[in-house]
Amino acid sequence: MIDGKKVLFSGMQATGNLTLGNYLGALKNWITLSDEYECFYSVVDMHSITVRQDPATLRKRARNLLTLYIAAGLDPEKNCIYYQSHVSGHAELAWILNCFTYMGELNRMTQFKDKSAKHADNINAGLFTYPVLMAADILLYQADVVPVGIDQMQHLELTRNIAERFNNIYGDVFTVPEAYIGKVGAKIMSLQEPSKKMSKSDENPNGSIYLMDDPDTIMRKCKRAVTDSEGCIRYSDEQPGIKNLLDIYSACTGKTPAEAVKEFEGKGYGELKPAVGEAVISVLKPLQDEFERLSKDKAYIDSIIKENADKANYYATKTLRKVQRKVGFPDRIR
Ligand code: TRP
Repeated sequence: MIDGKKVLFSGMQATGNLTLGNYLGALKNWITLSDEYECFYSVVDMHSITVRQDPATLRKRARNLLTLYIAAGLDPEKNCIYYQSHVSGHAELAWILNCFTYMGELNRMTQFKDKSAKHADNINAGLFTYPVLMAADILLYQADVVPVGIDQMQHLELTRNIAERFNNIYGDVFTVPEAYIGKVGAKIMSLQEPSKKMSKSDENPNGSIYLMDDPDTIMRKCKRAVTDSEGCIRYSDEQPGIKNLLDIYSACTGKTPAEAVKEFEGKGYGELKPAVGEAVISVLKPLQDEFERLSKDKAYIDSIIKENADKANYYATKTLRKVQRKVGFPDRIR
């Protein structure tokens, strides 16, 4: 608890370009959470180097992601938006937690298996202990809730196990976090393969709308979206392409899917697609403009980076000192 509020922690990697799916499914909903929770949103740059990165690109992307958080409406006065690498407690706690995590547990992580298959030439120890760093992220802030996608549930479960194991030995040190199950955002699918989630790592760029796509590109991608040959607009699992377009339209306009269906009654796909394009543009254009504006305001963004790193450090150090004392490290002389 911080100031009577429960703590929420989440992190995003700055690799790949964020998509409309990331925005409508996650980011947009984060904005409403800061009234209820004390929120920490980290740009997890330390996780990114488990696969090779070009340094200049990583630095640039990390800054863009942090700026984007703010452009999307996360108030940096109310939400702690910071770089993981600016708070050394993440690495320090990760080391300690490494000593409370079993090889067998890490061996079972499906993401490790997938990533080591994909990067067979660089199966480094960091890739293996990645979930321990993630556990440190969460436990360092005594987070109560963690909004995560289904692909990160296994890591969150491991985090809970590590926290419980530690607490069993040393008493109540860590808050055992839960997955955040609140109002879930829209699940946006690929425009080209509507059975697959829209993804920032999709090889087919037409499947995803990126947050920085210009209006012409957005319109073109919407017009090319895969549909079906039924020719009528219903909200049904039998028409996954149309359903996805209606979901996007609803999420962008604030209408319900039923209202959207009504609006397009008797109309064809040729009318739906550009309407979806317009709706997406009307959401992304202001976000892009705000991103541009903020990107130019170097001093402001720098001040946010500094202030929020200080804030994160304050809470991180509190937990870290407690943990260090519990495991038997000597007290600091002040
Ligand atoms: N591993 C997460 C992902 O790739 C990112 C992440 C790192 C994270 N630390 C976290 C998410 C802590 C939630 C909480 O999506």
